[in-house]
Amino acid sequence: MTGARELWARYLEQRAQLGESPLVIQGARQHPPESPDRVPAPEAAIPPTTPEPPRQEPPRAESDAPRPSRSRSPGKKPKAGPRWKRDMPPIPPRGMVVTAATSDLFSEDPLKEASLDAVAAMIHECTQCGLCENRNNAVPGEGPGDALLAVVGEGPGAKEDETGRPFVGRAGELLTEILAAIDLPREQVYICNVVKCRPPSNRKPQQDEIDACVPYLHRQLEILKPAVILAMGGTAAETLLGTRQSLGSLRNKVHEFRGTPLVVTYHPAALLRNPNWKKPTWDDVRIARQLVDNRG
Ligand code: URA
Ligand code: URA
Repeated sequence: MTGARELWARYLEQRAQLGESPLVIQGARQHPPESPDRVPAPEAAIPPTTPEPPRQEPPRAESDAPRPSRSRSPGKKPKAGPRWKRDMPPIPPRGMVVTAATSDLFSEDPLKEASLDAVAAMIHECTQCGLCENRNNAVPGEGPGDALLAVVGEGPGAKEDETGRPFVGRAGELLTEILAAIDLPREQVYICNVVKCRPPSNRKPQQDEIDACVPYLHRQLEILKPAVILAMGGTAAETLLGTRQSLGSLRNKVHEFRGTPLVVTYHPAALLRNPNWKKPTWDDVRIARQLVDNRG
């Protein structure tokens, strides 16, 4: 029986005859290769494609000195640009153009030059429609006065009515995630609704309620002058664009609301009911995000 040791000796001899440098073997239990022209195992040649799970930091006992950072595996290049830009859909063609002037409610109003805060104060006092009767809190909207993106939803739900803040329920959590995914944290976005008080049992706001309330929205947008408006859901899209066209037909166009690009997408509450709308919504919000970048 030919032992491994003998095979190994013959292999080393052949190497020496071929003029190859001697092998340096570390460790006593190293096995000889199966053949002289053995190639590395494929798993060793291909860098891992899945990231390692995050390591638990060991407690720093002896030293607080920074440790050398782990180097990237050689095949992994950092991807250029933010995630939302990858496989970006093209900017869609122009859609509707809305040029209407500011609503009458404010045309002769001493608050014509009001700040967002002053408009919010008016909303808190408002009794222009029946929704005021059951409200715990009016929900004017929130966000910085220099926000580049304005998100417009339909109307407050239970949690919004309770807190006085827009989009803080389940749909709001989803909106917060969507905004984070396009690198526009919600703290940087102005978020409001078409109607500022909760419709009973979360029904859709009626047209007379919308008509009574929309001047506030118009005024908020006029003061804010965002770079882009994102209308979420049919109520926001129909109200801002003054149309009854379906949400599906209003999507995938860049409308213009008084000079500001306006993108229509599904309402986050609709996404919770129908996850098939997540992909088109992701496209829409990325288009809106791109338009924010393209401003000016
Ligand atoms: N849905 C809306 O349209 N607006 C909110 O503020 C919350 C839920
Ligand atoms: N129809 C709507 O009105 N809103 C949506 O978000 C989806 C369909």
